[in-house]
Amino acid sequence: MATKRKGGPKTAGTKIEPAKGKLGVMVVGMGAVATTMIAGVEAVRRGLAKPIGSLTQMGTIRLGKRTDNNSPLIKDFVPLADLNDIVFTGWDIFDDNVYEAAAHAQVLKSETLKQLKPYLETIAPMPAVFNRYYVKRLHGTHVKKGKNKRDLAEQVRADIRAFRKTVDRVVMIWCGSTEIFMQPAAVHQSIAAFEKGLEKNDPGIAPSQIYAYAALKEGVPFANGAPNLTVDIPAMVELSKRNAAPICGKDFKTGQTFMKTVLAPAFKARMLGVHGWFSTNILGNRDGEVLDEPQSFKTKEESKLGSLEYIFQPEIYPDLYKDIYHKIRINYYPPRGDEKEAWDNIDIFGWLGYPMQLKINFLCRDSILAAPIALDLVLFLDLAKRTPELRSIGIQEWLSFYLKSPQSAPGLYPEHDLFIQSMKLKNTLRHIMGADLITHLGLEYYD
Ligand SMILES: NC(=O)c1ccc[n+]([C@@H]2O[C@H](COP(=O)([O-])OP(=O)(O)OC[C@H]3O[C@@H](n4cnc5c(N)ncnc54)[C@H](O)[C@@H]3O)[C@@H](O)[C@H]2O)c1
Repeated sequence: MATKRKGGPKTAGTKIEPAKGKLGVMVVGMGAVATTMIAGVEAVRRGLAKPIGSLTQMGTIRLGKRTDNNSPLIKDFVPLADLNDIVFTGWDIFDDNVYEAAAHAQVLKSETLKQLKPYLETIAPMPAVFNRYYVKRLHGTHVKKGKNKRDLAEQVRADIRAFRKTVDRVVMIWCGSTEIFMQPAAVHQSIAAFEKGLEKNDPGIAPSQIYAYAALKEGVPFANGAPNLTVDIPAMVELSKRNAAPICGKDFKTGQTFMKTVLAPAFKARMLGVHGWFSTNILGNRDGEVLDEPQSFKTKEESKLGSLEYIFQPEIYPDLYKDIYHKIRINYYPPRGDEKEAWDNIDIFGWLGYPMQLKINFLCRDSILAAPIALDLVLFLDLAKRTPELRSIGIQEWLSFYLKSPQSAPGLYPEHDLFIQSMKLKNTLRHIMGADLITHLGLEYYD
């Protein structure tokens, strides 16, 4: 266990393995988010742009007292992989290389993409594990064939092993589409049941779970950018622990839910009540097209609904939050492409029950918000894998900061409040580096 000390990086005793050599990043689904992340990393490496939105690249961490004036960059405090050491590969159901896929996604300007073209063209996806039963709006052509799901998992494991020969460490991240709504079933309850299910082609095993299983079997950390069930099942938690392959929650927390998990804690902190929260969105990218299908929408809806219930704790504050009407709509509107627009109407009430309203209109860019989150998750999962105290605990709850549906230990409610999540993340970094935790008590300034 790390010993306490007064701030500043510690070299002895932490046993975090250094980030030496190449970090291989295997991206499942090379669509809008993935290509924006990959192109963005290359643009930053070439000094063409700044990594705005990335905590690992731009964030600082305070060490010691406020009067110490010691706030190094996070990437100088913890041993993270350098962007220059990242090597990307991945899978998609279309065979477009990353330049073509990024051009199709229309997130980044064509001038930007042209500058990066020679590099982006070198990354072509491997054939994917795909089945239309799980994503009904897509017709994939670039897909693996196998005699059963176990065979497909073995093919993904072979892809991982081949890539691993070319790099020093590997992390996998799902940036693929939202699958149909699935609930934990018997096949998900243990590794043995899951492996039997793979053999028998159990419909309870979705493609995202075949990738995740392959990653965890290979000891590779796995992040999930979509709301799919994937690793949120006992079998995967068990496998993650057994093979020291960290996992975290699911579904990048980018736009509307990001705002919800900022505002809801503010209302609660001031004991302001909420009658209703109506959220609607228009978006026109491929993600929007997939989410236009009711079963994929249901998966997203469940993920987006969770945060308020947990933050408001209506069982503790019935007078304020017992009967909130919370509604979420996502409408596919092609003219808008990736430039999503979200509206929230919040009906709140204050002193003596007097009603008030708050309206939010967030004109965001979906993948511009998601790309730095994907990058940070990859870098932090790689750090977790190199940190003895973290790598075998399975779920990395400290990464909840980035996710709409945080994952937590069985029986433990997830933390959705963005500022608690941020504090948890930074305190985890302080802890593994042996620095003092910051509680914000601050009485020492008045001694
Ligand atoms: N952009 C955001 O703000 C945001 C926020 C939260 C979650 N997400 C989620 O992230 C995911 C990616 O979003 P996007 O905007 O990049 O979508 P996208 O449709 O542009 O990209 C998804 C890609 O995944 C591929 N794919 C689908 N199934 C696959 C499989 N089984 N194997 C390999 N590839 C597969 C598709 O062909 C596509 O290229 C979606 O699930 C989305 O819901 C995005």
